[in-house]
Amino acid sequence: MKSGRMKIKEVLAAGKVGSELVVKGWVRSVRVGKNVTFIALNDGSCLASLQVVLDPAVPGYREICGLGTGSAVAVRGSLAESPAAGQKRELRGVELIVVGVGDESYPLQKKRHSFEYLRSIAHLRARTNTFGAVFRVRSSLAQAIHRFFAERGFLYVHTPIITANDCEGGGEMFRVTTLDMAGPPLASGKVDYSADFFGKATGLTVSGQLEGELFAQAFSDIYTFGPTFRAENSNTARHVAEFWMIEPEMAFADLMADAALAEEFFRYLCRHVLDNCCEDMDFFNDHLEKGLLERLEGVVDASFGMMEYDNAVDILKKAKAPFRYPVEWGCDLQTEHERYLTEQVVGGPLFILNYPKEIKAFYMRLNDDGRTVAAMDMLVPKVGEIIGGSQREERLDLLERRMVETGIDPSNLGWYLDSRRWGSSPHAGFGLGFERLVMYLTGMENIRDVIPFPRTPGHADF
Ligand code: 4AD
Ligand code: MG
Repeated sequence: MKSGRMKIKEVLAAGKVGSELVVKGWVRSVRVGKNVTFIALNDGSCLASLQVVLDPAVPGYREICGLGTGSAVAVRGSLAESPAAGQKRELRGVELIVVGVGDESYPLQKKRHSFEYLRSIAHLRARTNTFGAVFRVRSSLAQAIHRFFAERGFLYVHTPIITANDCEGGGEMFRVTTLDMAGPPLASGKVDYSADFFGKATGLTVSGQLEGELFAQAFSDIYTFGPTFRAENSNTARHVAEFWMIEPEMAFADLMADAALAEEFFRYLCRHVLDNCCEDMDFFNDHLEKGLLERLEGVVDASFGMMEYDNAVDILKKAKAPFRYPVEWGCDLQTEHERYLTEQVVGGPLFILNYPKEIKAFYMRLNDDGRTVAAMDMLVPKVGEIIGGSQREERLDLLERRMVETGIDPSNLGWYLDSRRWGSSPHAGFGLGFERLVMYLTGMENIRDVIPFPRTPGHADF
């Protein structure tokens, strides 16, 4: 085929009627009529498929009539006004080349499939309408995130994936080792990691924050955006073992500045999908969650709620809702509590501030009351916690004391403590879970359906 290829998105948006062009993509359906055959062709550039019309004069017409769903084809033709409802343009094909055959064993035949089934063929599901829309929105959001921080002068830093520190202290690190697991070297009956590749026990990072803090103490405002790993054995619709996290960190900033950035960032991303992902967002609004667009418009306009942890606990204790987990001051809030607060009490995004120190990580700044830390979680309807952040403990003596209290050996984090030794400044940051964001913005209800190849307990094949 001589002419160059045009993506279907461009053809539908700006193709000139009467022009000759080539499109390439995968067959969604073939409808054989009396005198013509219609092929719905999709190349992933947009949700809509292009209708290709072929008549018996086209070479290989009989083969075309028998084309299976999923086949890869190239078509040359001329663009015409479409007489059919629901589309402005169609392509009158004059030549069709079958690039890769798809036959009746192709799993994605015309009928609707459940998300559960599609998860079992995650290597093919990107070729469906829903997953096409999810992953286009995901890609567009990733670019918007970089733009948001670039526009505000934040430095983008790549923090390490292999690390020796468990930032969150949750003991959820995946081990990275080159030792022979069948017979590792031992010292006093335990695996001797001093003989390992890095000379110590290492794992996959649970957060880029600690390294991010060091860069904030040099560049003022920074962010990381990368994969994060947690070996938490929770089979929920909101947890995966490998997820992506956006973590900004600001020097000379306190908890209120942190919450203000989180709010501005969140609004920006809602606005972004409403303005830039219209076709896919309309699809979600029509097929997945009626009222999605209205919900997001509401977030762009409304101010976010703000509540002290103390106050949240009081409200939950008085609530009539039948919670599975009882609430007492000092307990960690469960998803059911978070959702009650954000859905029933405020009806929109909500910050909870100043949690008991016992349930939060060692690096959070101790408040003057001596019992809470300057933490903030942002909760949203449907998802619950979507952002976790805090002002950091910038005072060396207090930080060392918290480490000891939480069972962390300060001598292992000398480099982190050094940032409090010379030119320490008050600073704050947060982490936004990228998949939870995509869930919130698309209305998808299972985190496995917003990440291309989900990693969950027992699942890492594709
Ligand atoms: O609240 P987390 O654990 O906070 C941190 O990691 C901090 N170091 C962030 C910071 O202050 N720089 O995680 C932050 C967010 C959560 O609010 C949630 O959205 C997401 O990361 N997250 C997960 N997403 C999917 N699967 C999991 N297993 C997740 N664990 C956390
Ligand atoms: Mg958290």
